[in-house]
Amino acid sequence: MNNILITGGLGYIGSSLIKQLNFKIVNKIVIVDLDLFHTKEQINSFIKKNNIESKVIIKKINFANIIVLDEIFKLYKIDMVIHLGGLVGDPACAFNIELTKKINTDATNKLVDLSVKHRVAKFIYASTCSVYGINEQLCSEHTEPKPISEYARSKLEGEIKLHSVKDKFDEIIILRFSTLYGVSQRIRFDLVGNLFYAKAKWEKSISVFGGWQWRPFINVKDAGLVLSILLNMNIPGINTYNVGLDTGNSTLENLATLIKSRFKDCEIVDTGAKEDARNYKVNFDKFHNKFGNILKFDLNNGVEDLCNDLDNFENNWKSTLYSNLLTTKNNFKILMTDDN
Ligand SMILES: NC(=O)c1ccc[n+]([C@@H]2O[C@H](COP(=O)([O-])OP(=O)(O)OC[C@H]3O[C@@H](n4cnc5c(N)ncnc54)[C@H](O)[C@@H]3O)[C@@H](O)[C@H]2O)c1
Repeated sequence: MNNILITGGLGYIGSSLIKQLNFKIVNKIVIVDLDLFHTKEQINSFIKKNNIESKVIIKKINFANIIVLDEIFKLYKIDMVIHLGGLVGDPACAFNIELTKKINTDATNKLVDLSVKHRVAKFIYASTCSVYGINEQLCSEHTEPKPISEYARSKLEGEIKLHSVKDKFDEIIILRFSTLYGVSQRIRFDLVGNLFYAKAKWEKSISVFGGWQWRPFINVKDAGLVLSILLNMNIPGINTYNVGLDTGNSTLENLATLIKSRFKDCEIVDTGAKEDARNYKVNFDKFHNKFGNILKFDLNNGVEDLCNDLDNFENNWKSTLYSNLLTTKNNFKILMTDDN
């Protein structure tokens, strides 16, 4: 049974993973997370309700704090790492490039080096399909990444670091997740699917910037599910997978139309501007050939799930907590300091 360190375990994907993880097959889970989005209490009550207090330890620290992290590796004999923590999304990572480099690149590099030092057998890294940037072709894992943002560049640097030490682990799994939408213990309204929902429901109008841009989408519940399955599989060597499904490839206009159809009095407004130039379709054959049809949601029932989950949500979707950019700005000092 494994002792697993999860960075960012209180986040959007992390909390979805915790809810779906089979605790019978793990020995200890150590979550390292600054709790920037205030999900710790909810996760703690889930832990209590399921009587797994003896298995889960939450450390509210910066994973850039290598000294404390080193102690954690030693104390808990960590043999598997799931690295989800960091600054997430283009706006949050563009806010302060020095901070993005410190957290997403430098601290990730140090975490990988510590994992090597402590002979971790398996390392799972959450990367993103955003590494494909603007790409005319259907992007497979063989397509050359063309990141166009600090965020995507920083995620690709994490992948490159892992390739540089590939012989030091039994297994390295790099997961290039599609763009997420949906609801976990943590709610985000800075993701395009969730933002379209908020605009449709509370402003009766969804703005698209052209709407022709293609993106792959995956429900956050499926992202957590994938991690919970993969941590229990033996996949030797270093492997990169695009995570999503063919029918998750959608134009933004199609996504807006799907969400609009849930609301009688909503319009779609094309503002014509190109605020976010990312445009790519993704091939998921490698993932499906290896794992089969494990995802529960296509875009249709996934959007339905999002709408059901948010049906009773009170209208405070502009709160700082639901925005990675605003939360990063508010926590700049904490993130910049190692010793917390
Ligand atoms: N959400 C998406 O659409 C998406 C898509 C593709 C890939 N990913 C990747 O998946 C991973 C998880 O994404 P998410 O959507 O769950 O993000 P998230 O922002 O919800 O979670 C990140 C977590 O990390 C914590 N954190 C941030 N910096 C930290 C630090 N220095 N020390 C300790 N904790 C810190 C935060 O408190 C938060 O709980 C990220 O690596 C992201 O790049 C996300």
